[in-house]
Amino acid sequence: MSDLILKKRNGASLTQQEIEYVVNGYTGEQIPDYQISALLMAIYYKGMSTQEVSDLTMSMVHSGDTIDLSKVHGMKVDKHSTGGVGDKVSLIVAPLVAAVGVPVAKMSGRGLGHTGGTIDKLEAIEGFSVELTREEFFEQVNTKKLAIIGQSGRLTPADKKLYALRDVTATVDSIPLIASSIMSKKIASGADAIVLDVKTGSGAFMKSLDGAKDLAQTMVQIGKSLGRKTIAIISDMNQPLGYEIGNANEIKEAIEVLQGKRVEDLREVSLSIAAHMAVLGGVYEQFEEAYKQLEHILDSGEALETFKSFVDAQGGNVEQIIDPAKLPKAKFQIEITSDAEGYVEKLEAEPVGVAAMLLGAGRKTKDDQIDHSVGITLKKKIGDYVQKGDVLAIFHSNTEDVKASIDSFKGAISLTAQKIDSTPMIYETIE
Ligand code: URA
Repeated sequence: MSDLILKKRNGASLTQQEIEYVVNGYTGEQIPDYQISALLMAIYYKGMSTQEVSDLTMSMVHSGDTIDLSKVHGMKVDKHSTGGVGDKVSLIVAPLVAAVGVPVAKMSGRGLGHTGGTIDKLEAIEGFSVELTREEFFEQVNTKKLAIIGQSGRLTPADKKLYALRDVTATVDSIPLIASSIMSKKIASGADAIVLDVKTGSGAFMKSLDGAKDLAQTMVQIGKSLGRKTIAIISDMNQPLGYEIGNANEIKEAIEVLQGKRVEDLREVSLSIAAHMAVLGGVYEQFEEAYKQLEHILDSGEALETFKSFVDAQGGNVEQIIDPAKLPKAKFQIEITSDAEGYVEKLEAEPVGVAAMLLGAGRKTKDDQIDHSVGITLKKKIGDYVQKGDVLAIFHSNTEDVKASIDSFKGAISLTAQKIDSTPMIYETIE
């Protein structure tokens, strides 16, 4: 192992056998944390070639179970977001592409820290079960075109161990390590094709556009080298997506978009991802055509019908989808007002996400319980004009003491006298 650390420290490439030796040795607890830590730091500084990143990805895929989706008919297209605040895109995209016939057999994660997870959001619906047997899962995708379940605990155990170690050794933000971590989970979940939503901006892993591009290109290369059609969009996370941050309230906003409501940023990102998925799934030839057709599907309410049928199939209370006012509601609705005036210049996603987490919408540590009824409704976003005393946001809380959340929220927002130019939601597409 020390020879391999030295080899990487000197900038050479590791062979497939060497990478497999490391991943298997670490998963099997034959190689100690301190040696893997040193190797991770060497990778952080010296990087990895495309071949090495692909080999690392496949070694992690083989460290645990893989899902065989061959019983699901058609091209299985998955999507992944690198994580954001208010990111309820999966809840919109999944029924939308299912409505045009792309089978969605999705495994999603839970939220941690300032970002939420699709599985937690779905559990805000009374009775919704995120655990199906493999047979139920395949059957539901074949009949309803859509099933979403929690990630199996036995998927990519090497990634779980490596991620935990990266977290405490300052080696999370390494492009080859992030790229292989994400792609290993997608490939182990059985995807034939993958659409990636790489976030950039203050609330994203990748703060700079160049970093996001680099990550997107690396993941697209991995996907292609492993025979999976892969496309990445780079989308903005300088502020939360949409107006709702939490769980029940994010379900509510997703339903509104599925009803055709113009929540512009959320609608654009959702339609773009769905259009790429529908093209990869073979339903349309061109992205532009797919985007237009999917706009019609969204406005017609067809995707909402697919969502209802999916919720029903997984035991959820459809009454709450028909009437989102029946979703869990917090005891207190607390208005947060502005003490100054001007145009909103910044509404940083991360401290807003932290404010929602402190209300109980997210987890500080992975064992924390979340409260589905709490969260934040934004009333202003970047570029909006605010008068003194205007409501900036509503906190949905089950306690009246929300001081820590207010502090985090107020730290996120800044006003300016100058009008703000709008910036694109999608910066680039990489394929
Ligand atoms: N998300 C992942 O799954 N892995 C990383 O390394 C970073 C973000």
